[in-house]
Amino acid sequence: MSNYHIKHLEEYFKVYRKSVREPEVFWEEIAEEHFTWYKRWDTILSWDFSKPEVKWYEGAQLNITENCIDRHLLTKGNKTAILFEPNNPKEEAQHITYNQLHEQVNKFANVLKSQGIKKGDRVCIYLPMIPELAVSVLACARIGAIHSVVFAGFSATALSTRINDSDCKMVITSDGSYRGNKTIDLKGIVDEGLKDCPSVNTVLVAKRIHSEINMKEGRDLWLQPLLDEASSECTPEIMDAEDPLFILYTSGSTGKPKGMVHTTAGYMVYTAYTFKNVFNYREDDIYWCTADIGWITGHSYIVYGPLANGATTVMFEGVPSYPDFGRFWEIVEKHKINQFYTAPTAIRALAKEKLEFVDRYDLSSLKVLGSVGEPINEEAWHWYNDNVGKRKSPIVDTWWQTETGGVMITPLPYVTPTIPTYASLPFPGIQPTLMDENGEEIKENQIDGRLCIKFPWPSMARTIWGNHQRYKETYFSAYPNKYFTGDGALRNTVGYYRITGRVDDVIIVSGHNLGTAPIEDAINEHPAVAESAIVGFPHDIKGNALYGYVILKEVGETRKHESLRKEINQIITEHIGPIAKLDKIQFTNGLPKTRSGKIMRRILRKISCKDISNLGDTSTLLNPEVVQEIIDNSI
Ligand code: PRX
Repeated sequence: MSNYHIKHLEEYFKVYRKSVREPEVFWEEIAEEHFTWYKRWDTILSWDFSKPEVKWYEGAQLNITENCIDRHLLTKGNKTAILFEPNNPKEEAQHITYNQLHEQVNKFANVLKSQGIKKGDRVCIYLPMIPELAVSVLACARIGAIHSVVFAGFSATALSTRINDSDCKMVITSDGSYRGNKTIDLKGIVDEGLKDCPSVNTVLVAKRIHSEINMKEGRDLWLQPLLDEASSECTPEIMDAEDPLFILYTSGSTGKPKGMVHTTAGYMVYTAYTFKNVFNYREDDIYWCTADIGWITGHSYIVYGPLANGATTVMFEGVPSYPDFGRFWEIVEKHKINQFYTAPTAIRALAKEKLEFVDRYDLSSLKVLGSVGEPINEEAWHWYNDNVGKRKSPIVDTWWQTETGGVMITPLPYVTPTIPTYASLPFPGIQPTLMDENGEEIKENQIDGRLCIKFPWPSMARTIWGNHQRYKETYFSAYPNKYFTGDGALRNTVGYYRITGRVDDVIIVSGHNLGTAPIEDAINEHPAVAESAIVGFPHDIKGNALYGYVILKEVGETRKHESLRKEINQIITEHIGPIAKLDKIQFTNGLPKTRSGKIMRRILRKISCKDISNLGDTSTLLNPEVVQEIIDNSI
C-alpha cells in the first residue's frame, strides 16, 4: 500500500526513504492505486542522464482527461470542478460541475477534431483566465493534441516566435480580456503575431468582452456556434505513457525560449500526488492558486493536479488590486478558500497597503498558504503568516520549475516544521544535491552550492521541442549524470534547503523568468543602440527589477535620453511584453569586458546594487577605465 497522504513527520521520513531505496516500487504503487489506466506499464522507469533519456511507465496507456474528469463522474458529477471568479466582482461567479466540465471538454474536443486537429498536432492557446482556457487545455489532452499555452501578457512577437517554434496548426484566443479596469485587445495581438506564422490554419475566437473585432475570412471562427453544434460525446484518445501532453515555453539565458516538453503518465502521477500532499488536500476543500494557466504553476496546480484529485479549483480572471487591494481576501471569504497559493511578489505588493484591506475579511477558512516562483524574503513570509494565516496556517514555500513539472522541495503542511526562507525538505522521490565550483558534491552544511537533482522523477521535462541537444547542454552537461537546475542553494544542519537564486543569466522579475539575452537582442534592434547589457537589482515588490546599460551609436544630446528610454522600453514591450521593461536605463560609453570580449556582468550587477566597495579583480578587463565612468553615472 502506498502512503498517498502523508500525515506526520515520521511517516514523511519513512516514505522518503522508501522513495529513494526502491523508487520503482514506490512509484508503481502510487500509479496502481490512484489512477485509471487502459493498459498497465511494462517498465516503471528507464533512464540515462548522459543522453539524456528518461521514460516512466513505458508501455502503459491512458488519457489524462479520463483521470481528471470521467472517473469522478459517478461519485462527484455534481461537485464543482472549476469555480470561476470574474475580473469584476459584480459579475457572478460560475460553478462548473464535473458533469458540465465533461460536456464542455467533449464538445470542445469535437470542435478541434472538426477543424482537422489530430493526435500529435500542436495547438497554441492564447487566452485570458476564463473557463475556456482550462476547457481548451483539457480538450487538447482529450484528443492527444499537444497544447502550447502562451501567457496572454506576451507580445505579438513573443507569441509568433512560440507558434513558429512548434509549428502550431491552430490558435485559440478571445475577442479581448479584462484586467482590472483595463480591457486588452487580445485578438489584435494575435492578428499581428500571425502575420508571419505559416503553420496556422485556424483561429478559434471565444467571446469575452464583446468588442468589435476583425475576423479574417477563411481563418478565424467564433467558438460558440461551433460548440453549440458539437456532440457532447468524445471518446478519449488512447495515449502512450510517454506521448507528449504539452509544450510550455520558458526563458533561457541565451537565445530563443525553450519549449519544454512534458509527457503524459509521469506528469499526471506526480502532479496529482504532490497536489494531495503539498496542499494537504481533503475532499470538499476549496483550493485557489492565483497563478495564470499560462505558467507551469497553472498547468500543474490549477488544472491537472487538482482535477486529478477531484478537487474544486478556483480560476481568477482579475488582479489583486482591482477594485481595491482587498480583492484576494474578499475572494477567500466569499468562496471559503481552504488552500491559497500565490507568489512572493503579490504578497509584497499587498503588504505595502493598509492592513485594513486584509482585516476587513473573514479568512478563517484558510488551512494552508503557499508560495512559489522566487525566494520569499523573511519580511514577506512573516506578513503572510501573521496577517493572512493568523499564525495558524502553515506556509508551504514550494521550490520547483517549468522543467520539473511539479513541486520538488517543500514543507508538507502540518507535517514539516517551517523556517522562513527555507523551502525545507525534498518531496518523496526527489534526490537533491549541491555541487561546488569544482564539480564535487558538497557534503557539508551551510555552504552555498549549485542545486542539482541526482535521480529522475516522473514529471521532469523530457526534452526541448525540436532541440534535444540544447536540452542536454542546458541541464545535463554542467555536472555529469545530474540535472542542473540553474539555481544556487544551501543546506542547513537539519537538511533543509534554502534557495538563494539563479546562478545563470536568468533574472526573476515578479516571479517571471526573464533571460538577459532576448531582452538585449530587443534593445539592440533600436537604430540608435550599439550594444547593451541587462542585470537584475533588488526591488521591494518585484524581487528583482531590470537595469540596462546601453551604448549608443552616437553619444548625442542628453536631453534626448528620456525619449530614448521610452523607445527602448517600447521595443522591449513589442518583442517580449511589458513584464520585461527596464526600471533603469543608463547610457554609457563602454561596458566592462574581458580580453575575450565577454561582458563582466558581475561588475555591472554590483554597480546596479550600489555595492561598489568590493568589485573584485578588474585587472583582467580589457577596458578597466570604463568601470569608474559607469559608477560615476549610475542611477
Ligand atoms: O529560481 C527558481 C525560482 O523560479 C525558477 C523557476 O521558474 P519557472 O520555471 O518560471 O517556474 C516557477 C514556478 C514553478 C526556479 O529555478 N523559484 C521557484 N520557486 C521558488 C524559487 N526560488 C526560491 N524559492 C521558491 N519557492
